[in-house]
Amino acid sequence: MRDSRSSWSFSRYRGIALSREQAENRAEIFFGRTGNMDGGDGRSEQIRDRKTHIIAVGNQKGGVGKTTNAVHMAAALGETGRKCLIIDLDMNQGATRHLGVPSNSFLGSYEVLIGEEQPLDVVITNGDEDLELPKNVDLIPASRKLENTEQALHQKSKFIVEQNVLIQPLRSLEGKYDYIFLDTAPNANVPTIAAYKAARWFILAAMPDPLAITGLNDALVDIQDAQQNGNPKLEILGVILSGVDGRRTRLASQLIAYVDRTFRFDDGSPAKFESSISRSVVVHEAQKEGKTLFETHPQHKLCEQYRELAREIETRLGVVPAAQAKRTKAAANTDGEEMAEEAVGNG
Ligand SMILES: Nc1ncnc2c1ncn2[C@@H]1O[C@H](COP(=O)(O)OP(=O)(O)O)[C@@H](O)[C@H]1O
Ligand SMILES: [Mg+2]
Repeated sequence: MRDSRSSWSFSRYRGIALSREQAENRAEIFFGRTGNMDGGDGRSEQIRDRKTHIIAVGNQKGGVGKTTNAVHMAAALGETGRKCLIIDLDMNQGATRHLGVPSNSFLGSYEVLIGEEQPLDVVITNGDEDLELPKNVDLIPASRKLENTEQALHQKSKFIVEQNVLIQPLRSLEGKYDYIFLDTAPNANVPTIAAYKAARWFILAAMPDPLAITGLNDALVDIQDAQQNGNPKLEILGVILSGVDGRRTRLASQLIAYVDRTFRFDDGSPAKFESSISRSVVVHEAQKEGKTLFETHPQHKLCEQYRELAREIETRLGVVPAAQAKRTKAAANTDGEEMAEEAVGNG
């Protein structure tokens, strides 16, 4: 692990200093929303002045659940009527494929990064080209060309600051979506760094696996680097643990306990989301079909875990007050939470 500190503490909500007027507007939007939480039909269209939450999802290791989590968080939020966009910034095109969009077939994040296209001109929405995307989820797809981003930018101009190339495109999407998820590659290349520079929030993805935990620490070092060098507003929103097995090895239990204990906000509360995501073959089955679990296995416990995660995200962002989230949670009963608690108890 690159950093030898024994614990991390993140300050949060630093940037959310609402004026009274803003706070009142929020309350109005919230009360307007409550009657309609399950519907979504046209609901998001009613909210003209959407606050767009830009969330990068990362870990410096591959195969730790970044893409699966980004896609399912968006689908879970989309199910409740929030309008979401996923920007696939990984040349391996995990999110693009997971959503059933053929690889290397569309203009997408590469063209946006090198300034050749505006994001809204390359967004894929449900029904485009006969593609079926989850409800309220749009995609800016990735392509293999992303590996040439740096070179292409150099050829265009010596004066382009590579790490800033996502800032203007994301600004142009402000108000158009409730959530924009930036699915990053497992290395600190130009698209990844641009995501760290432009995002407001960061969700760390990990599995109870030693490499994934090392990748978590590496990502934290880069987040702090970004905070100190140009994106002081970047904050950790939380850590998702996924691929959590019902029957765990001792090592897995220790790693879960380690994440719970080590990654904390500066008020002492755990950065790890309470809703952990279980390990299940249904993820792979859905991936093969190019669909999310909400379409292939809507009754599966993983869908409920992702719904619960979506509620936690909205609570942490202040979109939904904690009291309401707690009520919904009491009704939910996810075994992800129980597993995490049990692991902490063991560890
Ligand atoms: N909850 C889960 N249960 C079982 N397998 C999972 C789960 N989440 C992800 N996977 C599998 O793990 C692999 C890596 O996931 P992915 O989301 O692509 O990671 P990353 O984006 O970090 O590379 C994929 O093969 C995926 O099917
Ligand atoms: Mg991925």
